[in-house]
Amino acid sequence: MVTSRIVFSSLSLLVALILCFSPIHCSNTIGKGYRLISIEESPDGGFIGYLQVKQKNKIYGSDITTLRLYVKHETDTRLRVHITDAKKQRWEVPYNLLPREQPPPVGKVIGKSRKSPITVQELSGSELIFSYTTDPFSFAVKRRSNGQTLFNTSSNSAFGEMVFKDQYLEISTSLPKDASIYGLGENSQANGIKLVPNEPYTLYTEDVSAINLNTDLYGSHPVYMDLRNVGGKPYAHAVLLLNSNGMDVFYRGTSLTYKVIGGVFDFYFVAGPSPLDVVDQYTSLIGRPAPMPYWSLGFHQCRWGYRNLSVIEDVVDSYQKAKIPLDVIWNDDDHMDAKKDFTLSPISYPRAKLLNFLDRIHKMGMKYVVINDPGIGVNSSYGVYQRGMANDVFIKYEGKPFLAQVWPGAVHFPDFLNPKTVSWWGEEIRRFHELVPIDGLWIDMNEINATGVQAPIGFKTIATSALHYNGVREYDAHSIYGFSETVATHKGLLSIEGKRPFILSRSTFVGSGKYAAHWTGDNQGTWQSLQVSISTMLNFGIFGVPMVGSDICGFYPQPTEELCNRWIEVGAFYPFSRDHANYYSPRQELYQWDTVAESARNALGMRYKILPYLYTLNYEAHVTGAPIARPLFFSFPEYTECYGSSRQFLLGSGLMISPVLEQGKTEVEALFPPGSWYQMFDMTQAVVSKKGKRVTLPAPLNFVNVHLYQNTILPMQQGGLVITFPAGASEGYAKGKLYLDEDELPEMKLGNGQSTYVDFYASVGNGTVKMWSDVKEGKFALSKGWVIEKVSVLGLRGAGQASEIVINGSPVSNEGKKVEVSLKEHTYVVGLEEEGENKSV
Ligand code: NOJ
Repeated sequence: MVTSRIVFSSLSLLVALILCFSPIHCSNTIGKGYRLISIEESPDGGFIGYLQVKQKNKIYGSDITTLRLYVKHETDTRLRVHITDAKKQRWEVPYNLLPREQPPPVGKVIGKSRKSPITVQELSGSELIFSYTTDPFSFAVKRRSNGQTLFNTSSNSAFGEMVFKDQYLEISTSLPKDASIYGLGENSQANGIKLVPNEPYTLYTEDVSAINLNTDLYGSHPVYMDLRNVGGKPYAHAVLLLNSNGMDVFYRGTSLTYKVIGGVFDFYFVAGPSPLDVVDQYTSLIGRPAPMPYWSLGFHQCRWGYRNLSVIEDVVDSYQKAKIPLDVIWNDDDHMDAKKDFTLSPISYPRAKLLNFLDRIHKMGMKYVVINDPGIGVNSSYGVYQRGMANDVFIKYEGKPFLAQVWPGAVHFPDFLNPKTVSWWGEEIRRFHELVPIDGLWIDMNEINATGVQAPIGFKTIATSALHYNGVREYDAHSIYGFSETVATHKGLLSIEGKRPFILSRSTFVGSGKYAAHWTGDNQGTWQSLQVSISTMLNFGIFGVPMVGSDICGFYPQPTEELCNRWIEVGAFYPFSRDHANYYSPRQELYQWDTVAESARNALGMRYKILPYLYTLNYEAHVTGAPIARPLFFSFPEYTECYGSSRQFLLGSGLMISPVLEQGKTEVEALFPPGSWYQMFDMTQAVVSKKGKRVTLPAPLNFVNVHLYQNTILPMQQGGLVITFPAGASEGYAKGKLYLDEDELPEMKLGNGQSTYVDFYASVGNGTVKMWSDVKEGKFALSKGWVIEKVSVLGLRGAGQASEIVINGSPVSNEGKKVEVSLKEHTYVVGLEEEGENKSV
């Protein structure tokens, strides 16, 4: 419980939070709440009301007497409820860091207070209806289309009234028993993706290793998705409390309570109703996920302890020899001179030799990424430090740069809320890039993690009384440190060569996905860490950070050969796929064991085939927020059976991974939502069910079950295009899409002549399979010579109906020869060949 470690002004608060570890003690008896004294329409189309405290008390500090309530239907599907001190500005997540609409300034009371009581009112205007009670004040949010109450702060026996003090805010909502709740992280959830009642979720960014289950970790994402099945119809919505202060969220199954130690209540409700609508609406608020370069979807190898250049040279060569694909080689802090950022060790990584190596791997199309920590070594002969001091860029404590201790020894921390720091940081990145042409940056330890030399306050965080730019307290800004560093790093990388930046950040906050990928931190070479990696990955998709993965084979010592086999079979399908290990771990590159190398060739072989699909998912994430890796309920929200499923996952809407997650197993029990699922390694095999079922599948050591859903068109690289129809149906349709572009361009979009987007369609009926496409800007793909060489059609078994194949109006004969079919401006070279009951053309 991290809040217990934060320095509070009141000891009684600490005691209360500790008591609240036990849910039965968690009812709030702190106050009698507030009374609504006025409410008026505001000039910007919202509503402004004022709340008066009913009875002040001093528990946890004095109540704030008058609050300002601001309600706005920002879009048809997004509602904002913002409550703050009516008289003075309080700390909020900075609007320049996370751009969004600003509520009217506080300070002057708008509108008159009414003497007569205001009765329950509804402020409609969208799918989300806001209603309130006056005395005590409470509010509720209802879904217009089905009348369901989504959020309701009206007190009942489970919780008390709203509390608003300088350092303690509390509010609760009731929830229906059958709502499935997801999110609220970062957290390694022992019980899978669905939140478990009576677990407190603490949000405060910390360097707590990911092996600690059900505790707060590196990031803070105070958002949850609520999925309900109402009369057989699924409805999803999400609630974000945009607040960067430390908080505990108590989920009790029928209620949820926020206990926050500062800032404001700034709630955003997005209406869905599908899970995909929810992430679309959520990321349109917090920022769309970053476009990732194509190469970053390849396989990455890293470890802490690649002590010199010849070791990484050998790693690259060994991957080649083992015929395991490798696109990116990484350095942890081993390349640095005495662990100082932006330096090279003249002994272990001499520059001239490193440049030769980079030249060689760049020619092979490979990339190089290195680590960077925020702590800048205090060392008067170190240029980065000197320039930092000269520009006054560091976080302060009692007027001087805050002194802490990390890898280089004594360090100061850059204050990324200061615009001067952002410029200095960008300049340091540029200088380093001149020294070493890195292709991306890995920003670690940015929770911030340090041992405070001054005013140590506890476990690996700096003093909450340290000060940022403009007098902002670390107390308030702590959890946005990694986010602010990410934004500055993105700006710096972008300004060097104008290329699409690749950043991997350990600490994240609401909005980080717009700039960076994330890995799930220090896990362990255990089966449990492997299992947990799936739910954490799926949560990050909901958080708008879809480029995510865990250290494959585990960070801490030491995976068994069997575990590493199984891990690469999962990790090959993480959006971000990287093997990484601790300094003290034995070597665990995939070629270290013959069996692991074989599993890697199989699983990564499949990953590399589906790279165009993954890249298209990255595009989809960028334009709609759709996660790359998704829980099953994203595609099958009607199928309640899958609401808690975290042992399998989907890539996109229809490619399902069902891995082995336990020692000694050579079978896997997998849940199949209703429909036809085709096994990707042997396309003649399928699992078909009308209502959905659990199936025990063979899963020998080197094999991972990957299934493709019916009605899908999957674009592959060196595997052609796969079209799936429902098995045996006499009629059916399928669709899919493909996005490709010049992946070094910063933006991922259509219309610049550097990208191609194709919607594919297919149908089967009356003995004919028809396929057609809608090509947007096909010239780019054609200029690269990218054509579709093979089309496989699955699901024709039994129907015997497809004697003719027509592509964009032209019949294609089935004689095993290649024909060219022109699809609008795009050309597909189609190789014909018959394959069992399914068809390949
Ligand atoms: C902590 C990171 O989580 C880990 O991945 C890294 O290897 C070490 N820091 C050393 O830089």
